[in-house]
Amino acid sequence: MVDPLKDIVAHVMNECRNDDDSGEIVESGVRRLTFRPTSRGKIVGRCRKVRAIIETIDRVAKSTCNVLCTGESGTGKELFVSALHDASRRSEGPLVTVNCGALPENLMESELFGHARGAFTGAHVTRQGRVAQAEGGTLFLDEIGELPMKLQSKLLRLLQEREYTPVGDNRTIKCDIRIVAATNRDLAEEVTKGAFREDLYYRLNVIHLALPALRERMEDMDDLIDHFYRNSLEMAGRDDLEGIDDSARDALKCHDWPGNIRELENVVQRAVLLSVGPMISADDIPMDFGRASGPDSALCHELPDEGINLRSVIDEYESNLVRQALERTSWNKNQAAKLLGLNRTTLVEMVKRKKLQSV
Ligand SMILES: Nc1ncnc2c1ncn2[C@@H]1O[C@H](COP(=O)(O)OP(=O)(O)O)[C@@H](O)[C@H]1O
Ligand SMILES: [Mg+2]
Repeated sequence: MVDPLKDIVAHVMNECRNDDDSGEIVESGVRRLTFRPTSRGKIVGRCRKVRAIIETIDRVAKSTCNVLCTGESGTGKELFVSALHDASRRSEGPLVTVNCGALPENLMESELFGHARGAFTGAHVTRQGRVAQAEGGTLFLDEIGELPMKLQSKLLRLLQEREYTPVGDNRTIKCDIRIVAATNRDLAEEVTKGAFREDLYYRLNVIHLALPALRERMEDMDDLIDHFYRNSLEMAGRDDLEGIDDSARDALKCHDWPGNIRELENVVQRAVLLSVGPMISADDIPMDFGRASGPDSALCHELPDEGINLRSVIDEYESNLVRQALERTSWNKNQAAKLLGLNRTTLVEMVKRKKLQSV
């Protein structure tokens, strides 16, 4: 008999063996994964919270229990949901994602449950919904906090009875799916505000995977930086870069990452694309995060107790970046404007206004 978990463990062991960066995977007999492959890329993370989430995933993957995944935007909700699907008995089946906030209520209902021919104007043919497409697999309801009230009650029926009725149809259809929902909202608070059904919340929240924000898992920064650096090299077509130096790492570690891992990925990608090389240094980190040295610094990130003069700080900050772009391009205004995402005329005006000169 095939044991999917065994397969996954073998696969992970293999991946780690073939991987230069294989972290420790077994510690005192406990699997301690640093790199978990999923169908959507690797999960990198050795911090306690991430390891605990992966352990929970392994423990519940085989069941059909509902799972709720929460975390700020960019914390990896989609990635962890795919790990759950991959580790489940349904991994051969589909993983179907629905963004619950993407469509207005009437369209979302038919998106989820499908519709009969003639159910509404424009419904020329019978159409299968996402629930039917997920049969035998996992239905991932992303941004569940955005789901309109009317659909929340229809979803509750689906969760409780595992059955639904397509729009304009009178049949009751049974289904065999695993439901996983994700949100960056605090659903308990939405329940208190009356914006989310309490019964639905409890149904969804059987197992809760609470993903930490990146600023709460700084011990993973180096692994994540290396991971995105390696991934970006090929994409950027660069074979001249030799690595990321400590100044860049320090700068990255000083930022508080409101956009979480997605933002970090983006910043590392840009650095790999634009760095003069051979090492990526703090100069390649666009916002100069963390090089703040006091309240007068244009790069000051935290509001000091004594306050700041916002206009002059922003002005200095802007001048600093413009100067860097010009210096890096030997004052080639076309190239510098490109680095700054400005058009040439705007840059020229800025240089004049700020009285910037090459030295
Ligand atoms: N632990 C992680 N290891 C590696 N990459 C990650 C990790 N978490 C997130 N990512 C990457 O960050 C980006 C955002 O992740 P995503 O799952 O879309 O976040 P969310 O759904 O929470 O907004 C994706 O490119 C994803 O591959
Ligand atoms: Mg997402």
